[in-house]
Amino acid sequence: MTKEMKKILVTGAVGQIGSELTMELRKRYGAENVIATGRKTQPSEELRNSGPFHFIDVNKIETVEEMIQKYDIDTVYHMAAILSAVGEKNPQLCWDVNMNGTINILELGLKYEMTRVIIPSSIAVFGSGIPLDNTPQETVLKPTTMYGVTKVCGELLCDYYVKRFGLDIRGLRYPGIISYETLPGGGTTDYAVAIYYEAVDKGKYTCFVREDTKLPMMYMPDAIEGTIQLAEADFSKLKHHSDFNHAAMSFTAGELAASIKKYIPDFEVSYEPDYRQEIADSWPNSIDDSAAREEWGWKPQWDLDAMTKDMLEHLQERKEKGTLYR
Ligand code: SER
Repeated sequence: MTKEMKKILVTGAVGQIGSELTMELRKRYGAENVIATGRKTQPSEELRNSGPFHFIDVNKIETVEEMIQKYDIDTVYHMAAILSAVGEKNPQLCWDVNMNGTINILELGLKYEMTRVIIPSSIAVFGSGIPLDNTPQETVLKPTTMYGVTKVCGELLCDYYVKRFGLDIRGLRYPGIISYETLPGGGTTDYAVAIYYEAVDKGKYTCFVREDTKLPMMYMPDAIEGTIQLAEADFSKLKHHSDFNHAAMSFTAGELAASIKKYIPDFEVSYEPDYRQEIADSWPNSIDDSAAREEWGWKPQWDLDAMTKDMLEHLQERKEKGTLYR
């Protein structure tokens, strides 16, 4: 029997995924039962006013433990992480936040006999030696970024805690996530979000990867749905735990631009690859998520053109209100 989640702590709740995940969890489990936390960025008014919010530092275990005790937490969604591009600028910080933060959450999970711990991974676990198309669930994991190294170690650590201590941990390898609520912070796939903002704002965009760069991507509603679906899945049916490939669509930067041009015909894109090109080149073009489909029923809803239409409508509305970048 899968135990009920009653009091949920979200770390990284001010981040791109955390902010929308928190709002959805509050809808489903009750606002007062979802404790949002961040490290220093101020939360939006919506996030702060819709339920409990606190500043913590996942690297300072006592600040996390205080939350667990105060709210009698039984479930953690550990979304706090340093992403790939920032990680390459500051590898030690990336290691510190991603590894020490993760082991702190796992240790507290054991100490407080948590019902569930959700710790996401990323397509960044992949690197040299993989088949680039439809990269399988099980393949060599040799990332070439510090972010990828921490995500591979994180997956292994989580699986170790499942096997050794019986802790219920789940995680998925997110592709690039596209959304209009909160901007991503320092990832390689950020161009796929920035391009929409700039299309609406200026009608042109300079992309930091080549036109033919193809990566797995997903619209935020699918990412949130998939994350919660995995968290609620029957544990006894899971053969994998912390490393599910999680896919929706794959497209090149050029195909993304062409999709936007269907709605904004004058949109102009130029390409000036920087250091992030090498990171993008080390990741798959597309990934095989059949384990997620078989073990917990994953099925994405959004494709490129439907996402483009929705993104542009929301951003256009915000531009008209003068709150495009908030
Ligand atoms: N979006 C992330 C990044 O680009 C990948 O998990 O770093």
